[in-house]
Amino acid sequence: MIAEAKIDRIQAPKDLEEVRAKILKSRSSKIPCIVIPSGTCGQASGSSEVIEAFQKVIKKHLLQDKIALRITGCGGFCQSEPNIVIYPEEIYYQKLSPDDAEEVILETVLRGRIIDRLLYADPNTGERFTHLGKIPFFKKQQRLLLANNLQINPTNIDDYLATNGYSALSKILQEKAPDKVIEEIKQSGLRGRGGAGFSTGGKWELCRKARGEIKYVICNADEGDPGAYMDRSLLEGNPHSVIEGMIIGGYAIGACEGFIYVRDEYPLAVRHCRLAIEKAREYGFLGNDILGSGFSFDIRISIGAGAFVCGEETALIASIQGERGTPRQRPPFPAERGLWDMPTDINNVETWANVPLVISKGASWYSRIGTERSKGTKVFSLVGKINNTGLVEVPLGITLREIVYDIGAGIPNGKRFKAVQTGGPSGGCIPASLLDLPVDYESLKEAGSIMGSGGMIVMDEDTCMVDIARYYTAFLNDESCGKCLSCRKGTQKMHEILTDISEGKGNEGDIELLKELALVIKETSLCGLGQTAPNPVLSTLRYFQSEYEAHIKDKRCPAGVCKALISYYIEPDKCQACLICLRDCPVEAIIGGKGLVHIIDQDKCIKCGACLEVCPTRFSAVTKLSGLKAPETVLQGTKVIKKRSGETDANT
Ligand SMILES: Cc1cc2nc3c(=O)[nH]c(=O)nc-3n(C[C@H](O)[C@H](O)[C@H](O)COP(=O)(O)O)c2cc1C
Repeated sequence: MIAEAKIDRIQAPKDLEEVRAKILKSRSSKIPCIVIPSGTCGQASGSSEVIEAFQKVIKKHLLQDKIALRITGCGGFCQSEPNIVIYPEEIYYQKLSPDDAEEVILETVLRGRIIDRLLYADPNTGERFTHLGKIPFFKKQQRLLLANNLQINPTNIDDYLATNGYSALSKILQEKAPDKVIEEIKQSGLRGRGGAGFSTGGKWELCRKARGEIKYVICNADEGDPGAYMDRSLLEGNPHSVIEGMIIGGYAIGACEGFIYVRDEYPLAVRHCRLAIEKAREYGFLGNDILGSGFSFDIRISIGAGAFVCGEETALIASIQGERGTPRQRPPFPAERGLWDMPTDINNVETWANVPLVISKGASWYSRIGTERSKGTKVFSLVGKINNTGLVEVPLGITLREIVYDIGAGIPNGKRFKAVQTGGPSGGCIPASLLDLPVDYESLKEAGSIMGSGGMIVMDEDTCMVDIARYYTAFLNDESCGKCLSCRKGTQKMHEILTDISEGKGNEGDIELLKELALVIKETSLCGLGQTAPNPVLSTLRYFQSEYEAHIKDKRCPAGVCKALISYYIEPDKCQACLICLRDCPVEAIIGGKGLVHIIDQDKCIKCGACLEVCPTRFSAVTKLSGLKAPETVLQGTKVIKKRSGETDANT
């Protein structure tokens, strides 16, 4: 493992370059380095065991001085974990088991031979790729923030310094007055990555100008959206980039203290942040008289209990203050009256991580990336029915099609793309007809969704859009803090109507009622949770109204998802009486036996679909029906039908 060099507290910005040179000198770039990503996602896939195996093999073959190991946060391609990258060649191996470690070291690292079975293969063409940069998942991305995750052991501050870390801070402390820093951020066009897309520099300016002896900055790492984990991965993988951004923000605004508000469900992120803060203090980047500049600033961590509404800025402030996390009326905005009534700037994790980049590379460089009004890159968590799942960082303005097909490699199992849900639970579902939509703040809003913090859930033809609207409305109803009536009761009522529709109890007029309710909730709710809660309903109604109508009028679920509207049926002519489904049924709803055609007892069936899944494709005897009744003879059949003579059992 690469150790930290012994560094004393840095006394002046100009000394930082000396320190960096000392760190780089203490490292030999000539030996190969195996990078093993081990964020929460990696650990869930077994990266800890793979790391242990590599450590053992290196020790066994006495290679400690010949091979370096670097344990990092998530590298982005979560689907292929546990994976490794071997530098300097950038050889990418995926889905490793601990047993692969010895072969990788002896064959690839020492002899330069590629192990074919560990290479990533394109799910559509089967083509194998040896190098990270050539893999389509990475090739189309612009990884300004995420690429560093593979260069940095987040528990080793020297790794961050070796990649030019804290040079942006040093630069502003030497060269730039606070208002010049704000101007640079404004010129860059950076907008908040936490949801609303407010101008970051504009918000800093408001906060700087606000009257108050004490000012605060906050990093919003609540990240309560189902399916989203961009912020967690940035904090786990590169906590110093967020901390450096916050220090720069604190300097620009005139704040003395910062808080990282992070949920308790993110223990690794919390651990890495704690360690990074301690190290930053030790090196002189935090605390009194930072780098001898006279500017003092420190950061504390505040742990949240994981309520979605606590991501809303005023609820978050209440939570830090030790009060119940509920939102309050705005204005006054936190920039004027925030934490303990003092001017407070709140930004999202990814917004903060962009700040050192903007300062180091300059506003004009940054503003050339993206579109006219949406600058820079955005990290999305690409999940759902997609071949390549993981974190993708793309320039704003890229189309949904490029993300889904070029980076995500399309939909698995030859299924059709149906929709992509962006913006988390308060976002909307965008249909296939809008696949060429550029991903930017304005276009997503026009399409009835939002950018949100970066969740992107892909849905295929087997997804029921009524069910999706019902799921998100249930989530929002659960997470509504209950302070305002329109959100508390409105989301509850919407959920009841959607449940009725999905259970075949929908009535004429329900669609109109949903639309009316949605409008009232949007207009009258206190905070962003209620104001955006109708989005899943409105966007699915906008693009998939015929599906709602099929549920209400024909009592049919076109995607075959809503349990009350479907049934499973075994076609007697195709059934080979092989016993497979009969044995797999968890509720013993299948009647029959060896040599006897199987029948599903519809009264017992819980519609889990296990019979359909296990029926061998060469028989394909089980069918899912919706809007149709299973044939009478079979539904009423109490007697099992004898197999025709001369036929053999399938399992013999
Ligand atoms: C219900 C709700 C949940 C939110 N959750 C988050 C969150 O998890 N992370 C986040 O950065 N912003 C979240 N926001 C947005 C914040 O209120 C705030 O706008 C944001 O932190 C500002 O940072 P930015 O300007 O960098 O985007 C949420 C808003 C609402 C209404």
